[in-house]
Amino acid sequence: MKYLSEHKIAVLPGDGIGPEVIKEGIKVLQAAADATPGLGLDFVEFPYGAEHYLKTKELVPEAGLKELSRMGAIYLGALGDPRVPTGLLEQGILLKLRFYFEQYVNLRPIKLYPGVPCPLVGKGPEHVDFFVVRENTEDFYVALGGRAKGSSKAELNIVRSMYNAKFNLDIDVDRDEIAYQIGAISRKGAERVIRYTFELAQKKGKKRVTSVDKANVLTHIYNLWREVFSSVAKEYLKIETEFAFVDAVTMWFVKNPEWFQAVVTPNMFGDIITDLGAMIQGGLGLAPGGNINPEGVSMFEPIHGSAPKHAGKNIANPIATILAGQMMLESLGEQRAADAVEKAVAEVLSEGKVRSYDLGGNSSTSKIGDAVARKIK
Ligand code: IPM
Ligand code: MN
Repeated sequence: MKYLSEHKIAVLPGDGIGPEVIKEGIKVLQAAADATPGLGLDFVEFPYGAEHYLKTKELVPEAGLKELSRMGAIYLGALGDPRVPTGLLEQGILLKLRFYFEQYVNLRPIKLYPGVPCPLVGKGPEHVDFFVVRENTEDFYVALGGRAKGSSKAELNIVRSMYNAKFNLDIDVDRDEIAYQIGAISRKGAERVIRYTFELAQKKGKKRVTSVDKANVLTHIYNLWREVFSSVAKEYLKIETEFAFVDAVTMWFVKNPEWFQAVVTPNMFGDIITDLGAMIQGGLGLAPGGNINPEGVSMFEPIHGSAPKHAGKNIANPIATILAGQMMLESLGEQRAADAVEKAVAEVLSEGKVRSYDLGGNSSTSKIGDAVARKIK
């Protein structure tokens, strides 16, 4: 064996700026592997995305899923393309992979690095340093819904490894047409992600976990969530807990981000508040995320989209993707290499000489990747 520790990484560059930012991510990861004795990374590229779909009408085939399941982790650029109907690639590839691999944790650190301009007046790195854990497989993302007019029947299914749920609906609408969407949360689904959050909070020395929901209105699903949160919290008596409503949280992220240490929230609210989180850490160009199955194949990506209008110009900020790579190394157990990546990113950001347009600079995507890789070396 050439390496003490070797990981197979599936690379899905995807659409738009995806390939450009992924290229820099790989450059940096390779530099980190080269600088870490005994660490080898073997990158295997997969073509899934708009081009592949337009050519073959295939999103992710069964054989592709099988191959991906033999990988140590998945490194994803971005998905979405104006030539393909809205949502098709996002649902057929991104959500498909999250669900198939049961990546029930969506970990999104909200961390403002020194030197990065923050839109919040009077707030600096000492005020913005927490993480959001977004449940990643349930809630309103279970895609149960339909339209009804007059009398109709519908059978809707949730198929999960933990459970299957069938909804037989008998609908009578007397005049207007309606559309409906059913959200669902399972006890086990809530429990595993909430427990993950407490464990991570403990590991990272956080003193408080905030549960974010809307139990004052969507009482059925979020009361179950709260019940589970309270019961898991009892196992972590040293950690302070609180419930907050999502609307209020959007206000507090702006007004008092320093209050937050660890946040756990159902899927849809997690989607929304982490875009806000990205802004207070300096913008989407800096926000990474991990879709994690602690017992399975996890997937790491920048939380931004494919930004088609910036594609091919070599101007996109690759830092979010590079930091996603850092999270991937951490999840693979390569803490030393992960730390080297984060340190290099932090140095490049604080020096401020090499930065992309979104941070007020004019460095190209590849120059930023070069600068981070050089720091590691
Ligand atoms: C995200 C994205 C996705 C989501 C979309 C593209 C399906 O917004 O990763 O936050 O809603 O989860
Ligand atoms: Mn989102």
